[in-house]
Amino acid sequence: MATSRTGMILVVDDEEIMREILETLLTREGYTVRLASSGAEGLELARATPFDAAIVDIMMPGIDGIATLDELKRIDEDLAVLIITAYASVGSAISAMKAGAFDYITKPFKNDEVLVVVRNAMEQRRLVHENRNLRQNIQERYHKFANIIGKSPQMRQVFDLIIQAAPSRSTILVQGESGTGKELVARAIHANSSRAERPFVTVNSGNLPPDLLESTLFGHVKGAFTGAVSPKKGLFDLADTGSIFFDEIGNVPLETQGKLLRVIQERDFMRLGGLDTIRVDVRIIAATNTDLKQMTADGRFREDLFYRLNVISLQLPPLRDRKDDIPLLARHFLQKYGDENRKSGLELTPSALDLLTEYDWPGNVRELENVVERAVVLTAGPRIGAELIPEHVHKTAAFSVPDFVVPPEGISFKDVTSDFEKRLIESTLEAAGGVQKRAAELLHVKPTTLNEMIKRYDIRPRRKRSANGTEGPSSESETEPTPATTNLVIE
Ligand SMILES: Nc1ncnc2c1ncn2[C@@H]1O[C@H](COP(=O)(O)OP(=O)(O)OP(=O)(O)O)[C@@H](O)[C@H]1O
Ligand SMILES: [Mg+2]
Repeated sequence: MATSRTGMILVVDDEEIMREILETLLTREGYTVRLASSGAEGLELARATPFDAAIVDIMMPGIDGIATLDELKRIDEDLAVLIITAYASVGSAISAMKAGAFDYITKPFKNDEVLVVVRNAMEQRRLVHENRNLRQNIQERYHKFANIIGKSPQMRQVFDLIIQAAPSRSTILVQGESGTGKELVARAIHANSSRAERPFVTVNSGNLPPDLLESTLFGHVKGAFTGAVSPKKGLFDLADTGSIFFDEIGNVPLETQGKLLRVIQERDFMRLGGLDTIRVDVRIIAATNTDLKQMTADGRFREDLFYRLNVISLQLPPLRDRKDDIPLLARHFLQKYGDENRKSGLELTPSALDLLTEYDWPGNVRELENVVERAVVLTAGPRIGAELIPEHVHKTAAFSVPDFVVPPEGISFKDVTSDFEKRLIESTLEAAGGVQKRAAELLHVKPTTLNEMIKRYDIRPRRKRSANGTEGPSSESETEPTPATTNLVIE
């Protein structure tokens, strides 16, 4: 006796008798069945309820089986869709499989045939789910998801979005400053989709002149241009059934943008110089660190393409807005570069870690990765101290604008700002090793302006540089002897 099965199955068929046969058969097996007499009705049900599998008749008036299949996969790319075809039409069975059907059933069918195919579909669905749950558990335990490290609420939200969006075929736009991990996220989306085993092709949109970009993307026919001596396939051919990643989509020229729009909308393209349309099944993931919306306002990016790309939008927060991720990331890179450099048991001293958490990271995770790699290479022992963290990381750490509290009797604006200016110049000079030119650069003022202010505030050297360039004794006893940062040289 067959064990009872569970699962929700959608049956879409315009023939009432077929719907009834399938309903009886599947319900008897234990499945829950919903019936739809047209593609449109089926899609409506699929949008409202999650199904585990769908059985769709290929020949239906209105939206036919293939179009229904296509749309069902848009709603849930993991949905196993079984297509019912007439015995005579093997051709349509093949096109159903190409369009992403899990399997097909030919009419007239035997009950057992249908049940085997449905069981397989359910098994596949279960495996995909299990896999995803497993990944989610791992993520919770290790603050890591598909190589992306992070435990801040912002990154958890990113992980959730990846998990939700990955299975669908929808286009995704990943936005974020340079070095925030956009490519990493694009790869994670692909790895968590049912296309994981299929190709992931990266297009570096900015590296190529426009005509070369088009032939790279779409290929060309023989004689399409001078030098096109033989036909060539493009990256879209390579990415077929997989994902294509447009790195810095903002660099794609307007003319090529139109062609991209066509691939997204029509799922086909033409080779350069060619007349045939070529069908392609790719998932498009695009990344940018520019404000595409602004670019559309300036007429540099097609608005229709922007909206097509932005179906799902994923914003990666800059590192300075999720500082709780810094220690975790630092440890991760310590391990990574420790392994690479055969150095084990590496750790950051608390003061080194403080510097890393204080800094603003304009280059985001990439910059942090570089700083840690450098420290790992340079360290002699297992403990990495503040001295192995580059100067510029120290500088910002030392700076913070004080909180001002105005006393009840009021305060002289002029006195406060003058005092603040004076102290700011003094500490900048310290940080610049006493070199005025460098201090002026740090403060974004002209050296002459800085020199005027130094005179006006009567700022004097705190420490003198001795003749051999080493530290001289402190001329002011309250100055702490912090090596190499307290010399003041008036040039
Ligand atoms: N959350 C993270 N966890 C671990 N590594 C990360 C993370 N974010 C970024 N990285 C690492 O930082 C580097 C930069 O990441 P990635 O290339 O994905 O950034 P990007 O946003 O595409 O940058 P760009 O705009 O400059 O192309 C890579 O080496 C990547 O592995
Ligand atoms: Mg990148």
